[in-house]
Amino acid sequence: MDTRCPLTSTNRNWQSNKSAVRTLDCLASERYLLLYRYLVESEARSAIYCVRQPRIEIQKPPLMPSETIAIAADHAGVDLKMVLKEELEVLGFEVLDLGTQGEQSVDYPDMADALAEAISDGGVERGVLVCGTGIGISIAANRHRHIRAAVCCDTSSARLTREHNNANVLALGARLIGVETAKDCLRTFLSAKFEGGRHKRRVDKMS
Ligand code: RB5
Repeated sequence: MDTRCPLTSTNRNWQSNKSAVRTLDCLASERYLLLYRYLVESEARSAIYCVRQPRIEIQKPPLMPSETIAIAADHAGVDLKMVLKEELEVLGFEVLDLGTQGEQSVDYPDMADALAEAISDGGVERGVLVCGTGIGISIAANRHRHIRAAVCCDTSSARLTREHNNANVLALGARLIGVETAKDCLRTFLSAKFEGGRHKRRVDKMS
């Protein structure tokens, strides 16, 4: 059987060379058949793999399941606080919700003080603060020596403030940040680890 490609110069009359075309058709079908079998078999293999995996390994595990995260917001941040609280629960965290709960105007320094107090108690190590911009509430929180609150509006800041500053409070501006970005910042902040080393020396100078 001539299996040469009918498009080569050695076979100029390829259009009329039905035998060569048939041969190629045949080879192509065989290849498709092999490919089809391979796909079916690998799908079957991955189906078996999925069935054998315990469900917990497929689902995203909680970052630190036993950790309690404190959260507080003023009236401008209350809606985002509720979204973040739900997100924390989905991730497996306990949530200490320090308010506020409604739209009635409250002063952000009071909310920051409540969160700082919860963190100084020792039971809670990290927290989240939300106000309109994240700025006022983080300034108020940072007046407490044991608090390192960082306003973040992107995931790089959320990661770096954990890695370098060992920030223990994530501050978010509900009027400035989108909900999905806020959730991304939260997840990043909670999963990033303090790098220690030269950063520890600097952080120690602030406490
Ligand atoms: C409240 O109106 C607003 O000033 C507050 O949420 C915050 O943005 C302050 O920094």
